[in-house]
Amino acid sequence: MRISFTDDRSQSSGAVAVFALKAKTLSPSAETFDERTGGALRRAMEAARMKGDKGKTVELLAPANMDADRILVVGLGEPAEAGASAAEAAGGAIVGAYKTAHQDQVTVFADTPEGAALSDAEFAARIAYGALLKSYSFDKYFTKKTDNHSRVTLKRLVIVTADPKAAKKAYEMLEKIAEGVFFTRDLVSEPANILYPESLADACRTLSKLGVEVDVLGEERMAELGMGALLGVGQGSERESQLVVMEWNGAKSSKKGPVAFVGKGVTFDTGGISIKPAGGMEMMKWDMGGAGAVIGLMKALAGRKAKVHAVGIVGLVENMPSGTAQRPGDVVTSMSGQTIEVINTDAEGRLVLADALHYVQERFKPQFVIDLATLTGAIITSLGHEYAGMFSNDDTLSQQLAEAGEGEGEKVWRMPLGDVYDKMLTSQIADMKNVGTGGKAGSITAAQFLQRFIRRGTPWAHLDIAGMAWADSEGATVPKGGSGYGVRLLNRLVEEHYEGK
Ligand code: BES
Ligand code: MN
Ligand code: ZN
Repeated sequence: MRISFTDDRSQSSGAVAVFALKAKTLSPSAETFDERTGGALRRAMEAARMKGDKGKTVELLAPANMDADRILVVGLGEPAEAGASAAEAAGGAIVGAYKTAHQDQVTVFADTPEGAALSDAEFAARIAYGALLKSYSFDKYFTKKTDNHSRVTLKRLVIVTADPKAAKKAYEMLEKIAEGVFFTRDLVSEPANILYPESLADACRTLSKLGVEVDVLGEERMAELGMGALLGVGQGSERESQLVVMEWNGAKSSKKGPVAFVGKGVTFDTGGISIKPAGGMEMMKWDMGGAGAVIGLMKALAGRKAKVHAVGIVGLVENMPSGTAQRPGDVVTSMSGQTIEVINTDAEGRLVLADALHYVQERFKPQFVIDLATLTGAIITSLGHEYAGMFSNDDTLSQQLAEAGEGEGEKVWRMPLGDVYDKMLTSQIADMKNVGTGGKAGSITAAQFLQRFIRRGTPWAHLDIAGMAWADSEGATVPKGGSGYGVRLLNRLVEEHYEGK
């Protein structure tokens, strides 16, 4: 799908999209179309009980006295709140309506609502951004065009705006972020016979053409470094475990140390010897969603040449049961020197992160560390698919993340940490167990486990994204499948607080 901007208001063949605001106000362009159709827009809205709510649409087919085959009236919600997110949702709704509808072109009359805190250019760019994000589809494995329900047939989106040049410029920046999001979605959607630690490391290597320095550690290097926790998880797999270090340095001076992001990259999680039940196990191909987000973030930052020094580290392993797999009860020694009794081989993500977190702090002395992981099913019980769980030792970083999440529509909700939870990790035989006693507060004890690998004084946040990495239903700008969650959130965090001018 190609997106372009124009100030030529004359074109109106194919499909046309216009806006309505809450309480049934029409945009000036919508008003014009309503007049030309003898009031058909208002009548359609009335009949469909469409009141201009954000993301709601009503469609008129082959309206009389018009070139257009279809007119889509799209709700923007309350005029005062019709900002970036309403514009993105509108763009998403337009593409949602025509993506697979065998319509070549949609022309959007992007009148900026009066009172919106956005310029015409920014408003138009955000419509384009929402449209682009929604236009994604992962369809490489369909061999027959006709059987492919998700095949995108929409070819052109034309946005009519007062300032097409400035809109294009604003959009080009957003496009770079979308490229990061799409990279994450691709990786998360890819099945585990294709995407395994080495092939995922290869995907990381492609970032070097954007100026990202990529360093891949194999099992030998990791063994030398003493990464017994990560290696123990991968030891049952035929595939070699990998640790990938990606570094983007777009900052002028870096007195403070880089910002660091660490991702759980379990390319498939069978549970290992503590094997999972068969039902739904296919979902565990996206147990590398944290790593996917970190990789997509690095692509976005490098793509838009962010003025920041950022490090992304992903621990890539496949958790399999086999004759060489680690057993429940095994004791492993992590790179930090701390020993871990592996009670449940299905609590593997924290073992991978333990070594990756220690490594990033030792090598880079970062100003903060944020890890992302599809770590626990329990976080889905707690927060569903609305918020990622956030655990942190730092109020400032938490606040910044929470605000970035609200602003970007990738929300996080802070959960507690505390000594009582930490004590649940006490082992009879080693420094800690990898699961909490009693099986209660599973997301919190997982976070407590990670915190044991964070140095005093390092601001840290852990995002449990098990409920967010995969979309089971269509969202405003997120199609079903790998969501790309985390890329926009962390890009915004960096942009708002950690970028030089
Ligand atoms: N990858 C899973 C968590 C998960 C579950 C992610 C559902 C996405 C959807 C993780 O490795 C896991 O198996 N966690 C266990 C921990 C338990 C053994 C303490 C869980 O949540 O059941
Ligand atoms: Mn597991
Ligand atoms: Zn897992």
